[in-house]
Formats: sequence, C-alpha cells, structure tokens
Amino acid sequence: MPVLRALSKVVKQTLLGSPGCSCQPLTVAVRNISFSPRQVTSDASFHSVSFSETDHPKVLITGGLGQLGVGLAKMLRKKFGKNNVILSDIRKPPSSVFHSGPFIYSDILDYKNLREIVVNNRITWLFHYSALLSAVGEANVALARSVNITGLHNILDIAAEHGLRLFVPSTIGAFGPTSPRNPTPDLCVQRPRTIYGVSKVHAELMGEYYHHRYGLDFRCLRYPGIISADSMPGGGTTDYAVQIFHDAIKSGKFECNLRPDTRLPMMYIDDCLRATLEVMEAPVDTLSMRTYNINAMSFTPEELAQELQKQMPELEVTYDVDHVRQAIADSWPMNFDDSNARKEWGWKHDYDLPELIQTMLNYLSSETRVARAN
Ligand code: SER
Repeated sequence: MPVLRALSKVVKQTLLGSPGCSCQPLTVAVRNISFSPRQVTSDASFHSVSFSETDHPKVLITGGLGQLGVGLAKMLRKKFGKNNVILSDIRKPPSSVFHSGPFIYSDILDYKNLREIVVNNRITWLFHYSALLSAVGEANVALARSVNITGLHNILDIAAEHGLRLFVPSTIGAFGPTSPRNPTPDLCVQRPRTIYGVSKVHAELMGEYYHHRYGLDFRCLRYPGIISADSMPGGGTTDYAVQIFHDAIKSGKFECNLRPDTRLPMMYIDDCLRATLEVMEAPVDTLSMRTYNINAMSFTPEELAQELQKQMPELEVTYDVDHVRQAIADSWPMNFDDSNARKEWGWKHDYDLPELIQTMLNYLSSETRVARAN
C-alpha cells in the first residue's frame, strides 16, 4: 500500500537520522511511533495528578541556573514547600543554590532523563526556562535551534504524556520589524529575525497546538526585558539594563551597547515571577488565550541613565553600539499592550522606573557593603 510504504520510508529515514540534524533521531522516532501524544485522541484523559492527590503541585524548573530560575524556585518554595520544587540544570550549581533546596541534573535534550525525573518525582507543574537568548543565539544558531526547538519538543511531549501543567516563557523577541511596535498587541504579525524569536514563536504555536489537540495545560507569557539584582542574564539584547546598575555601583561608569534612544519594554524580576505564578494559578475559565503579553515599563538607555543619575549624579554613561544587538532591538516592540492579561486574570505590575531604580540600588549597595565588610 503506497501510504504504508511512504510511512515506512519516513520512519526509516527518521531512525537513521538526516545529515545536519543535531537531534536524537532514534529516541524521537520511537517516541513518535509508540508513545507520542499524537496517538491520543483529543478527548483522551491524560493521567493528570489532581490536586486532591497532593497538597501542592510538584514542580520542576528546567534551565534553573539562568537569570530567573533561582528566584522562581525561592518564591515557589515559600508557597508550596521546599521539597516540592526541584531546580535543574546541566551546570554545577553554586553552593548557596545547592543547599537551598532540591537540585538535580537534567538535560532537556535527553528525553529519557526528563521522563525519569518527571516519573520519579511525580512532577505536576513544569517551568521550562532552558533557552539561548537573542544575542548569544545569533552567535550560535545550531545550538540555539537544538536547545530552543528540539528541547522544547521533548518538554511538550513529556508534559502531554504525563498530564503536566506547563509554563514556557516567550518574549518581546517573538515579534519582528513588520509587527506593530508601539504598542504591540497579543495578536499581530510575528516575523522575528532572530533564531531566538523564531524558536519562541514556534514554542507559542506548538504549545497552543498541543493544548487544542491533546488538552495540554500550556501557559505562556511574553516577557519584556527582565531586570534582576542577584542574577545576571546570559546573552540577551536587553542585558544593558541590568549591567548598568552593576557598573554604576562598581566603577561609576557604564558603556552602553545600544543607542541612547532605543526604547524597549522592561520589567523588574519580582513582577515577572509573580506574573508567572499568577498565570499558572489562574482558573482555566479566565484564560481566553494561552499566550499573553505582560508589561510594566518601557524606557530608553538615555532615560534609564538620567533617572539613575538622579541618585548617582557622578555616573558617566558612554555609548559604543553593538550592531548585532542594535539591529535586534530595532526590530522589537517599544511597548507592549498587555490589556488582555490585565482584564482576564488580573495582571498588575508593582514596579515602575523609580521603584525599579531604588530597589536595584538598595540591593546592590547593601551587597557591596557586605562584601567590603568581609
Ligand atoms: N531578554 C531577552 C533578550 O534580550 C528578551 O527576551 O534576548
């Protein structure tokens, strides 16, 4: 039969792999043939662990040693209990992280490793933070494609097969030069020009597809640039807005790699983490969509520097534009329209620019005082 022959050819090709494919052909093919959610009808009930069975969700965070994971784990552990939140990464954790709660090795490109973790720990919620950001992704497209796309496929399948509630962050980077930029609504043209952006649009679409096709409880927020005091971002276009605080405190000088008039949406980490928990806890009937913009403030490097100089008049800011980052920033939203998140599940930010500056300076100067005293 021609259809079967064609199918068997596809299976053989998949089993053997194809040139240039960095994924794990054998595992993926077997999973697709035997266990994939693709074989489950849309009305099938996944073996979801209900909350009557456990008091709290059992949480796994992937990519836990990036900018957001440790803060997210801290917040969730306060609410759900220390042992109910597992932080994971492929890197070795600093001792403070290792001793603050459960930490394990998990490689999102290794499907069996993921499945073992989910099964052995009876995971019910998964926060998928592993990803290469925009600037570092452009410097290593093959790795970004593998982590951000192949890794996401493993996560989606694991989540669907085990009835998990899944959070995947998206970003302002999921938009491109043809999107409306000021403000950018939830639903509009999305033609990003970075591998990071392409992978995040893919994540939004695949998550929504799995939701409609298999009933996966997929939830996704498009984050603005996130500003944090005790963790550093890893290779994004919005990193300057974190670095400026550290350099201001350390040396009183900052060299910015974006033009002074580059306007981007930004948010303080506490708002970002709270929004993440709020959307995960939102009752299903409040969500008309599965992917929402969230916003707090929007500023340019010049505006940030001026506001910072009100507290630190001696701060010197110079500009040396990185053309890769500038081109990325010029294609991104200047401001986010997050009215759907506000209306539907009550999103409200706490930090505007003045509070952000005060909080960052308080934190970093007390850190510096402690370091000097030791
Ligand atoms: N902070 C990210 C980046 O700059 C945007 O989501 O890549």
